[in-house]
Amino acid sequence: PVLAPSVQELAKQGITEVPEQYLQPNQDPILVSNTTSLPQLPIIDFDKLLCEDVTELEKLHHASKEWGFFQLINHGVNSSLIENVKIGVEEFFNLPMEEKKKFWQTREELQGFGQVYVALEEEKLRWGDMFFVKTFPLDMRHPNLIPCIPQPFRDELDSYSLQLKKLCFKIIEFMTKALKTKPNELLNLFENGDQSIRINYYPPCPKPEQVIGLNSHSDGTALTILLQVNEIQGLQIRKDGNWIPINPISDAFVVNVGDMFEIMSNGIYRSIEHRATVNSEKERISVAAFHNPQAGINLGPAPTLVTPQTPALFKTIPLQDYVDGYLSSKIKGKSYLDFVRIQNE
Ligand code: SIN
Ligand code: FE2
Repeated sequence: PVLAPSVQELAKQGITEVPEQYLQPNQDPILVSNTTSLPQLPIIDFDKLLCEDVTELEKLHHASKEWGFFQLINHGVNSSLIENVKIGVEEFFNLPMEEKKKFWQTREELQGFGQVYVALEEEKLRWGDMFFVKTFPLDMRHPNLIPCIPQPFRDELDSYSLQLKKLCFKIIEFMTKALKTKPNELLNLFENGDQSIRINYYPPCPKPEQVIGLNSHSDGTALTILLQVNEIQGLQIRKDGNWIPINPISDAFVVNVGDMFEIMSNGIYRSIEHRATVNSEKERISVAAFHNPQAGINLGPAPTLVTPQTPALFKTIPLQDYVDGYLSSKIKGKSYLDFVRIQNE
């Protein structure tokens, strides 16, 4: 991996041109125009799901199938906690560089501040800093990361990660209900699941169309729950050949299906390509919580979803092989998902 310098520090220097290593060749234009004519991302009401509203469950099924993405409202995560996390995240990224250096990534350890997943030396750098940390299972926590985060953000991040883990489990429970799989096929695999959190910080850029905050990719994980901290537009998803901007809704989460869940649902739910663009005016901050099934399982389509009419679309492989393969391949496109796809003649 390449150890990248801080883009936040670079942007503070008041540069007017983008340094070469950040220039993205041949990038699809960034959409900033009137977007009302584009289809709008579905909004799912979690409270209705809890009340066993059948129509809402169908909406969830449809959104996961056709979009792989939706916004989740009335999710029950305490709004004062969310508010505190937002403040904490901003303060954390605004710590003096001297403080932040203690949390910087090393070549051996991809957690901490830096640019995770810059897999190849020749890959261009992204216009954004990240803080990446493994949060669950608890014994995976790095002794020099979360325990060293200044208070009160440390405790808030802790509560937030736990609440999101529980929320994720409930969302997957509703998805498995909609998919009609047996609990022990999919849901149980998330009981002691993994979670990691990545805070993305995209400073303003003098030439936003020349750079990318986060390249087009699909998530390698099972389910991602994203908080758009300062409600600045930037996240775009690819749908039917268009880039569709996701308008932040206050207090909503953006939820998306990742590669692993596409595999587990035998291709019924989709892991969709998305990217983060930046702008010239304002920094943008988001917090992504990634959820995986527990370590050690085999990853493959749920047995009830494999029938003579719907044969397995993906191979079953050890979960860790998927994680390793994803991390070592470029995070562009759907390269690693295609690698485990069964080629039907
Ligand atoms: C973002 O919206 O800033 C990040 C999206 C992602 O994590 O892919
Ligand atoms: Fe992503």
